[in-house]
Amino acid sequence: MGKQTILFVDDEPNILSGLQRMLRFLRYEMDLHFVESGKAALEFMAAHHVDVIVSDMRMPGMDGATLLSTVQEQFPHAIRIMLTGQADEDSVLRTVGIVHQFLAKPSTPETLKEVLGRACALQDLFKNEQLKALISRLGQLPSLPAVYAKLQHAIKNPECGLQDVAAIIEEDLAMSAKVLQLVNSAFFGFFKNIDSPSRAVNLLGLDTIKGLVLGIGVFTELKPTSETNFSIQSLWEHSMGVAAFAKTIAKEETKVKELIDHAFIAGLVHDIGKLLLFSSLHQQYTEVIALAQSENMVFCQAEQQILNADHTDAGGYLIGLWGLPGPVVEAVTFHHRLDQYPTPSFCTAVAVHAADVIYHTLYPDPYFAMPVLNKLYLDQAGVAHRFDHWCKICQQMKV
Ligand SMILES: [Fe+2]
Ligand SMILES: [Fe+2]
Repeated sequence: MGKQTILFVDDEPNILSGLQRMLRFLRYEMDLHFVESGKAALEFMAAHHVDVIVSDMRMPGMDGATLLSTVQEQFPHAIRIMLTGQADEDSVLRTVGIVHQFLAKPSTPETLKEVLGRACALQDLFKNEQLKALISRLGQLPSLPAVYAKLQHAIKNPECGLQDVAAIIEEDLAMSAKVLQLVNSAFFGFFKNIDSPSRAVNLLGLDTIKGLVLGIGVFTELKPTSETNFSIQSLWEHSMGVAAFAKTIAKEETKVKELIDHAFIAGLVHDIGKLLLFSSLHQQYTEVIALAQSENMVFCQAEQQILNADHTDAGGYLIGLWGLPGPVVEAVTFHHRLDQYPTPSFCTAVAVHAADVIYHTLYPDPYFAMPVLNKLYLDQAGVAHRFDHWCKICQQMKV
C-alpha cells in the first residue's frame, strides 16, 4: 500500500512546527501536512485525499468539534482524531460520536506513532477492493440504532445528566426491558434487582449503558427474518460473554477507564459483521455456515472462500461508518488477525481477541472450529504470561 496522508490542524504555529519536528521520523511511512485553521483544513481536503485528520480542539473561528463534524459529513472516509488539553473535558463529551479517537495534548512521538500507525492500518484494509465489492453487494447499510443515536445526541448537550439518559432509554419500552434483563443477568455478577433504567445508569455508568444500548439495538435491527442452523440467540449470548470477559481482562491489565469501556463495547459488537452478512446476504451466508460446518473451518476462512472478505471486514467497516471510537473499530476489525495490527501492546483488540478465544474454550460449539489464540502477538505485547490468569478469572464468571 502507498503512503497514507495525515493532516494536522492547529492554530498555534509553534505547536505545528513542534509536531513537524517531532514526527520527522515518520516521513518515509506517512505523508504529513500541517495547516493553521479549520477553513484551511477543509480547503486542503477538498483538493487532496486525506486518510487521517488530527485536529486541535480550541481554535478561533471554527473550533475542532465543528471542523471534525463537517469532515464527518463531507469526507466520511477520513479517520478523525482530536487533540485535547485538560480543560476540554466538557467539549470531549460533546464530540463523542464525531471523533474516532482523542489524544491528550501533549502526546509523545511514540503515542502519536502508535495511534497514527493503527489508524493507517485500518485505512489500508478498508481500501481493499474485495471488501469494497462486498460492501456494494450489501445494498443499504443499516443506520446507527435509534436509541443509541438519541443518546449520542443528548450527551452533546452539556446540561445532559444521567437522569436524562435514563429517560431516553425509558421512552423505548422494549429497550428498557432488555437493558434491565441484561444488567440483572449473571454476567454482571454484582448487581441484582435493578428495577429501573435510572438505577442501571447510576450503577453501571454512562459508557457501559451506551454499549448495552448499542448492542441491543444492533441485534434488534439486524434480526434476520429466518434462522437456519445459525442461531442469533447464541451469537447474542456469545457477544455478551465476550464483552464481559474483555472488560474483566482489561480491568486486570490497566487502570485506563477508556480502554476498559472500549473493551466492553468492542466485545459486544465484535461479531456484528456475521449478523450483517447473515441478514443482507442470506443465501450466500447460509453456504458459508454449511461450509464451516462440513469442513470444520473457522468462520473467517469459510467467509473468505465464499465472499472474498470476512465478518471482521464488514463489521469494522460498518461501525467505522457509525463513528464509533477508533480502538473499538480496530478491535472489531483485527480480532482474528492481530498479526496485521501494528505496534504490539495490551489494547482493546488484544482484550477482545483473548476474550473470544476464552469464550469458545469455555462454551465449545460442537459444529464449528474454534478461533486460535495468537500467542506470538500476545508475547510481543508482553502479556502472554497473563493468559492463564485471564482464563481463570473468566472461568469464575462462567454462568
Ligand atoms: Fe469473530
Ligand atoms: Fe466471536
